[in-house]
Formats: sequence, structure tokens, C-alpha cells
Amino acid sequence: MKILVTGGLGFIGSHTVVELQNKGFEVVIVDNCSNSSESVLDGITKISGKKPLFEKLDLREKEKVSSFFKKYQDIAGVIHFAASKAVGESVEKPLLYYENNIGTLVYILQELSKKQKASFIFSSSCTVYGQADKMPITEDAPVKVAESPYGNTKQMGEEIIADTCKVTPELSAIALRYFNPMGSHPSAEIGELPIGVPQNLVPFITQTGIGMRKELSVFGDDYPTPDGTCIRDYIYVVDLAKAHVVALERLLAGKNKENYEVFNVGTGKGSSVLEAIHSFEKVSGKKLNYKIVDRRPGDITSAYADTTKANTVLGWKSEYTLDDAMKSAWVWEQKIRD
Ligand code: UD1
Repeated sequence: MKILVTGGLGFIGSHTVVELQNKGFEVVIVDNCSNSSESVLDGITKISGKKPLFEKLDLREKEKVSSFFKKYQDIAGVIHFAASKAVGESVEKPLLYYENNIGTLVYILQELSKKQKASFIFSSSCTVYGQADKMPITEDAPVKVAESPYGNTKQMGEEIIADTCKVTPELSAIALRYFNPMGSHPSAEIGELPIGVPQNLVPFITQTGIGMRKELSVFGDDYPTPDGTCIRDYIYVVDLAKAHVVALERLLAGKNKENYEVFNVGTGKGSSVLEAIHSFEKVSGKKLNYKIVDRRPGDITSAYADTTKANTVLGWKSEYTLDDAMKSAWVWEQKIRD
């Protein structure tokens, strides 16, 4: 079966393409390479022994999206990763984020709505919960007012899909709300490639470990948590990639109970920033240079998933621990700087 993976050269997209190909799916990647490189195709091909089809395309070009779906009429499902994801940049350039994350979603859904049957997986985020009132966070926790245009695009994206599914029985969709993805493929052929100074914790840790950054700033140690630093649910990217495959298989097999469903994808375990640092020190055998600084505006204290729904309904469970995932991130960092 042919599956379109938009943003398939990106961090989570590329790992998902590998898992899809491992399961025998035929993959077509669409990517505009704005935050990725065509060389990722080689990594994917080395791991899975199969080169996916690739179309360099900017999904904001509506006519080209239409032509793409005319060319590939046999696409049975879409996993939609292509989007911008930097919170700070989204505050500076809100319209870019709305065009990139919402415009492209609308164009794809318009094309899928013309089909007799289509399955759609959406990259959502735990950011929709904001600071949830209860931990761990279940899928029925209220969606809070978004802190940034980026967060808003994830909330609006979910609503657009839900509204479309209500009037389009031929379309089935699942939104996966990721917690904090990290790590790289065990082969170290693909991994996270942040452009410029990383905003996320794990690549900043590994870049500090390798000496590219002088020190890591820990944003606040006065939070109401056991060690005072923020708590997140760090999910290994290969585990996350596998969640996309099982979600897609659920839709393709018609096993979904409703035509729009939402699942948390995390480990269910919260780890603090200091615990993440200690994990790095343990797996790398290196001391990490870090200092405590002020809180980062907009950060929430704590977020970790209740994964019961994904475990029971999807039959998916994360396998890697924080140490395993950190080790993979470190191996990758060493390889790309070599
Ligand atoms: C961030 C985004 C979130 C997005 C996710 C994608 C914000 C406020 N949220 O989540 O919307 O879905 O990335 O991966 O940007 N930290 C440090 N020092 C650093 C970097 C991070 O102490 O140099 C801390 C942060 O304060 C936080 C934790 O590490 O407590 C994780 O930060 P990060 O990796 O940026 O992820 P989130 O903020 O959870």
C-alpha cells in the first residue's frame, strides 16, 4: 500500500518512513527541505534497504498539491509531519506558521475528501494541554488556551480535522499528541539535525557534551518539583515512529471506533531536566557543563502522559528508557561531528 509521508525527511518523519518500509508499505515522501536535507534519503535507504519515492514540493502551493494527488491516485494513507515547529519563531512570524501549518493541512484534507476512502495521521503535541491540572495527562484533559501561534496551529489543526471528519465519513483520522521526542535510530544513519542553536533540551545537552556549546543553561530550579527543575515525558523517536505505523494500520484495517480519534504518545514517566543531565552523564561517561539560570518564559512545570489509551486501544507501548534514548542521541551526536 502506498503511503504519503509529508515532512518525511525531518526528524520524526524519517524514522517513521523507516518503520513503514520495514512493515512493507510503499512510501512517497514530500518535503520542501526547508528544515531538512535530501541526504536523509540515503540514511533511510541504508537502514531499510529500500529507497522511498521522493517529491520535493512545498505544500503551500495548492495547485501542486492537487497535481501531486492526481499523479499518485493510489495513495491509501497520509502521515502529515510537514510543519514549522519553533515556538519562539512562531511568535515572531505568526502568519508563516498559520500558512505553513494550517494552509497545508487544509489543502491535503481537501484532496483526501475527494477519495472514496482515506486514512490520515496528524502530528499533534502535548502542548495542547498547556499546564494540565492533573498528572499523568489523559486525552480528555481540557485543551488550554495556546501559549504561542505554534501551539495554536496544533489545536486548530485538530479542530479542522475533527470538523472535516464529521462531514466526511470516507475519511478516518488519528491525531497523535506527542510528548518530548528524542534520540536517534540505533544504526545512527538518521537522527535529529537541529539547524543553528538548538532550542530543545536533548540536542543542547549532546552539543554541549561534544564541545560545540560552552554550557547548558538549565531554565529554573525553583519549580514545585522534587529537584526544582521542570518535568517532561521524553519519548524515544523510534518508539514514537512505531506509534504512527500502528495508528495507520488501525485506520487502514477499519478498526477505529470513530472516524476521528486522539492518542497521547509518551512513556508515562516524567523526568526532570537534572535527571536528563544525569542520564547523559551516565551513558556518555562525561561531566556536563551546566548552570542554573532564570526560568524560560512560557515553560510549564510538568507534563507527562497517561498512556493507557495508546497501550490498550492501539496495543502500542514505548520500549526504550530515558538512558537508552539518551545513549542513541549521544552516539548520533558523535557520529555527525566526526
Ligand atoms: C517545546 C515546546 C513545545 C514543542 C516541543 C517540541 C516550548 C515552550 N515548548 O517543548 O511546544 O511541542 O518543544 O519538541 O518551547 N531546557 C533547559 N535548557 C535548555 C533547553 C530546555 O533547561 O537549553 C528545559 C526546558 O525549560 C524544559 C525542558 O528542558 O523544562 C524541555 O525543553 P524543550 O526540549 O524545549 O521542550 P518543551 O519546552 O517541553
